[in-house]
Amino acid sequence: MSQKTWGGRFSGNTDARVEAFTESIRFDYRLYRHDIRASQAHARMLAKVGLLTQAEADQIIQSLDEIRADIEAGHMEFSIALEDIHTHIERALIAKLGDVGRKLHTGRSRNDQVVTDVKLWMREAIDELDLLLRDLQKAFVELAEREREQILPGYTHLQRAQPVLAAHYALAYVEKFQRDRDRLADCRRRVNILPLGAAALAGTSLPIDREFVRAELGFEAIAANSLDVSSDRDFALEFIFCLAVIATHLSGWAEEWIIWSTTEFHFVDLPDEFCTGSSIMPHKKNPDVLELTRGKSARVIAMLQQLLVLVKGLPLAYNRDLQEDKTAIFDAFDTVQSCLVVAAPLVRQTRFCREAIAARLNDGFLDATTLMEALILAGVPMRTAHETVGQLVRECEQRNCRLEQLPEELFPRPEVKASLGVTKALAAFRSYGSTAPAEVDRQLQQWQQRLR
Ligand code: ARG
Repeated sequence: MSQKTWGGRFSGNTDARVEAFTESIRFDYRLYRHDIRASQAHARMLAKVGLLTQAEADQIIQSLDEIRADIEAGHMEFSIALEDIHTHIERALIAKLGDVGRKLHTGRSRNDQVVTDVKLWMREAIDELDLLLRDLQKAFVELAEREREQILPGYTHLQRAQPVLAAHYALAYVEKFQRDRDRLADCRRRVNILPLGAAALAGTSLPIDREFVRAELGFEAIAANSLDVSSDRDFALEFIFCLAVIATHLSGWAEEWIIWSTTEFHFVDLPDEFCTGSSIMPHKKNPDVLELTRGKSARVIAMLQQLLVLVKGLPLAYNRDLQEDKTAIFDAFDTVQSCLVVAAPLVRQTRFCREAIAARLNDGFLDATTLMEALILAGVPMRTAHETVGQLVRECEQRNCRLEQLPEELFPRPEVKASLGVTKALAAFRSYGSTAPAEVDRQLQQWQQRLR
C-alpha cells in the first residue's frame, strides 16, 4: 500500500524526482508542535460530536503526545516520501493505532490544517517579537537615561541642522519600535481567526463543531468563508510587512551608528564584544554586527516581495504554490529575530564619546534656526528673519567664525545674541514633542513607566 495519504486513486508510484521537488518537510517540520496541538483539539471535537468515541479520542491524544516527545528526542525520521509534517505525524499515529489513527483526519483537509498550524506558530512568533522589541525599547530608554545631559547635533540630509538631546534621539527609536509592536498586535488580531473546519475548500457534510475547536485553541473568532480560508494568506503578508518595517528601522539605526563609529564622526564607541577585526590590518575594529543588521534587512524585504508575488494571480481556493509561503514566513522571522537578539545588548554596551561630540558641537550653525526664531519673537517677520540669519551665516563663513563671535552691530536686535550657542539654543525649545529638556524629561518618564 502507498505511503501517501492520497494513494488510493494512483496505480504508479510517485517519481523520486517529483517527491524531492514537492516535499516541504525540510522547512515545515518546525510546525510539529502546532500540528499536534491542533490535531488534539480536532480529536476532542470529533469525540464531542460522536465521530470518534471518547476512548478513541483519548488514544489519539495520548499517542500524539508520544509522537511529540519522539520528535523532540530526535527519534522521528523525516522522509521526503511523506511530503510534509502533517503527513509524517498522521503516519506515525497510524503506525501506533492502526484504524483509530486512520480516523483523525475526519472532517478536515491539509488545506485548513496547514493554515491553522501556521497561525498557531505565528501567534507565538508575534509574542516573541513583542518581547524582543520591548527589550530593545528598554535598552534605548536606558541610553536616554545614561546620556540625559548630552547634546547631539541633529541632522537632516546628513547636514548639521539643530541641536537635540541624546535622550530625545534615543526616544525617537523607542517610538518607532512601539509602532512596530502596535502593528504586530494589530496583525495578531487577524492571525487569531480559526481556519480549521473549512476542510478542503467547501466545508464538510460531517457534523463538526468549529466553535468547540476555536475555544480549545484560543482563537478569537471563526473564519466565516471556507473558500476564503484555504486561499487566504493576507495574515502572512501582514506579518512579513511588519517584519520588513522592523528590519528597515533596524537598518537605518545600524547605518547611523556605523557612520557614528567612524574616526570622522567619533560619536560612539561600539563594544568590542560586538565588533570584529581585520585579518590584515591590525588596528581595525569593524562594526560587522551593524553592517549585517543593515544587510539582512534586504532578505526580509525580499521575503515580502516573494510572498506578494506568490499570491498574486492565484484562483480560489488552495493551490500548491501556497506551500512556498512558509519559506518566506520563516526566513523573514528568523532574520529579524536574529537581529533583535544582538541589537539590545549592543545598545546597552555602546558609549557615547561625550568629549569628542562636545568638542565640535559648535560647528555647523546648530543655533542658526533658534536665532531666527528669537528675531521672530522680537517682532521681525519670519521671511526677513530667515534672510537676515542667512546673511549672518555667510558672514561667519567669510570670517571663519561662529554666530556668537560676530560683532554686536551686525545683529538687527542686540538682545537676540542671548540665544546664541548650542546650549542656549537647546534650552530655548518649548513645543510639545520637541527636544526641550522639560519635554524630553516628561517623555522619558512616560516611557520608563510604560516599559516597567
Ligand atoms: N504542504 C502543504 C502546504 O504547505 C500542505 C497542504 C497540502 N494540500 C494539498 N492539497 N496538497 O501547503
